[in-house]
Amino acid sequence: MNAETPIVRPPIAMLAELTHRCPLSCPYCSNPVELARVDSELSTETWKDVFRQAADLGVLQLHLSGGEPASRRDLEDLVCAARDAGLYTNLITSGIGLSEKRLRALDEAGLDHVQLSLQGTTPEMADEIGGYNGGFKRKMQVAEWIGAIGFPLTLNAVLHRRNLHQLPRALEMAVEMGARRIEVATVQFHGWALKNRGALMPTMEQAREADRIVTEARARLKGTLVIDYVPADYHSDYPKRCMGGWGSTGLNVAPDGKVLPCHAAESIPHLSFDNVADRPLADIWYRGAAFNAYRGTDWMQEPCRSCARKTVDFGGCRCQAMAVVGDPDATDPVCVKSPHHGALQAQAAAHSVSDAPLVHRAVPARRQTEPTG
Ligand code: SF4
Ligand code: FES
Repeated sequence: MNAETPIVRPPIAMLAELTHRCPLSCPYCSNPVELARVDSELSTETWKDVFRQAADLGVLQLHLSGGEPASRRDLEDLVCAARDAGLYTNLITSGIGLSEKRLRALDEAGLDHVQLSLQGTTPEMADEIGGYNGGFKRKMQVAEWIGAIGFPLTLNAVLHRRNLHQLPRALEMAVEMGARRIEVATVQFHGWALKNRGALMPTMEQAREADRIVTEARARLKGTLVIDYVPADYHSDYPKRCMGGWGSTGLNVAPDGKVLPCHAAESIPHLSFDNVADRPLADIWYRGAAFNAYRGTDWMQEPCRSCARKTVDFGGCRCQAMAVVGDPDATDPVCVKSPHHGALQAQAAAHSVSDAPLVHRAVPARRQTEPTG
């Protein structure tokens, strides 16, 4: 073993993308431009087996996501199986597609936690961004039911140039709803979202103001609300430690069973991905080619290779290096040490004053789902 070969530990969390079907059409959707077809989705029994394999592998937290996971009519059954496997279950939802009856059934099935997305703090903003009339009203109703049932709640607010001014109200709403945590995530440009850099890129002033608001709110709301914050990285000097480091803490399973080191990994053309239908999950995690492609630090080029921060951020985000520089092995261009950093900042400045229109996620009509239950 080479001195830099990482010791591979079991993953802590698994994101199960149960379906790409979704009633919303958010322009910042980070799912791939080419969505998994409904008829390629894993069956109920296969998902249950994947959950058991995940628990055996050492996964503790299961995030049930999509698309909109409530679009799966077997969601309650899946939650039940995940709980039986000993996993902590978190439902990541827009709320659209959930009725009170269905939430109660999920509670009965053993769901531990709900993460509700927020597209805006007013009906006008939320419905415009989500591309779904009446979505905000319905979401507020769902939030009430979540509170009444007593699910621990995390609010997830995706912020960008058009709604960053609503950040203070989003924080207030989280407190009013009794949420324990809010994720303030400045839009990340992966998948479909790349088409909307001109429409959504925050200005540098907005990014700085958001930093200030979050710092102030963290001090003021200590003990009441935990604030997780993903800053506007195009305006930052150092990249984020994407996925906590490639193949180190988590894995994603796509609707069709492909096992991915991160949700945007399919944008890296030289990688090939194993499927849970063909190979055991543990084997994929420890020995799969995609998981080992960027584990640790051996793969790094300069300037990362000789940088003191290389085990802090692991060179940033591979998918961002691919999307912006065209080379997934390159230093994330967000980094000041990247030769592409200046160009990225110039791009960010240009995008932030662009009058490009919003391009909503294209959702074929047959993918639309109505509230069930
Ligand atoms: Fe991180 Fe690489 Fe930049 Fe160093 S050079 S701070 S390791 S991205
Ligand atoms: Fe793939 Fe960051 S999203 S490494």
